[in-house]
Amino acid sequence: MSFASPEQRGAFIAGIPKAELHLHIEGSLEPEMMFALAQRNAIDIPFASAEEVRKAYAFSNLQDFLDIYYQGMNVLRTEQDFYDLTTAYFRRIHADNAIHAEIFFDPQGHTERGVAFSTAIDGILRAMDDAQSDLNISSQLIMCFLRHLSEEDALATLEEATPYLDRISGVGLDSSELGHPPSKFAKVFAKAKALGLKAVAHAGEEGPPDYVWEALDILKIERMDHGNRSLEDPRLVQRLQDNQMTLTVCPLSNLSLCVVDNLKDHPLKKMLDLGLHATINSDDPSYFGGYLNDNYEATASALNLDKDDIIALAKNSFRGSFLDEETIAQSLRHIDDYVARFDG
Ligand code: ADE
Ligand code: ZN
Repeated sequence: MSFASPEQRGAFIAGIPKAELHLHIEGSLEPEMMFALAQRNAIDIPFASAEEVRKAYAFSNLQDFLDIYYQGMNVLRTEQDFYDLTTAYFRRIHADNAIHAEIFFDPQGHTERGVAFSTAIDGILRAMDDAQSDLNISSQLIMCFLRHLSEEDALATLEEATPYLDRISGVGLDSSELGHPPSKFAKVFAKAKALGLKAVAHAGEEGPPDYVWEALDILKIERMDHGNRSLEDPRLVQRLQDNQMTLTVCPLSNLSLCVVDNLKDHPLKKMLDLGLHATINSDDPSYFGGYLNDNYEATASALNLDKDDIIALAKNSFRGSFLDEETIAQSLRHIDDYVARFDG
């Protein structure tokens, strides 16, 4: 069913319960917080104002962005910094009616510059606990390996995570995709899976369909991050359909990183029409100009998504989550109740 007006569509998107499955917590560092933390930690940053930082956020590809992203996270030094960062994110998505989030963090982006693994994860976990009690937002944590670093480095990071394995749901793979295929991380993913962790990976964002195949067949992922370029390979589409694989799609990220030239060309609607389990996510909201609802709204407007599309996207966000079956069923009922109230 289509919406009577853009306002009605906006109201429907704003209120529908939803989950976020693709969010790098370091990518939620807003320029204002970057300045505040730089001051708190007596760190020089090469910008005079938050506006100047925002002006620097013009990217022509993934690597362009990553260079600035790693530079930005340099202001994160203490457990409190990670707590404040994560708490700000939860408060923001609370306003978007998100009730669950599965958050990525990049421990190697911190340990590489001398910040302890425990400093980062302790702050993030404390904020996750507080989000549950204060905002009623549940969350899980996914530890990503930086694919531009070696597999040995990833193995050492997995080792460092040992005391926290009961608080980490899964492992992921992010950073520079081209030239760093999933097969480079076969051993560390096998080890993580043997430890009972779930597996996800960025693939097909800039990389070819072959990388998506490798993520499925070699890393044995349970969920695909991005996956846009899967559509170039009909056999791969069939495989994703057969496996009911969830794709964590990030439209405003794709626009910012020139994965698509225009949101009107975004493959999300095609994915839904093919029966793929696509979801909408923000990736690095402070860098790409929008949080969860901004992504829904911009995509719905560009692709003329109807009410059934929005419902499917919100439902996919729970079906594709690592929540238990009962909680997923309850969340789907929340959506049905919301739709009935909205229509009534
Ligand atoms: N790290 C943070 N955001 C990322 C993205 N969109 N792709 C790969 N690595 C990332
Ligand atoms: Zn990402």
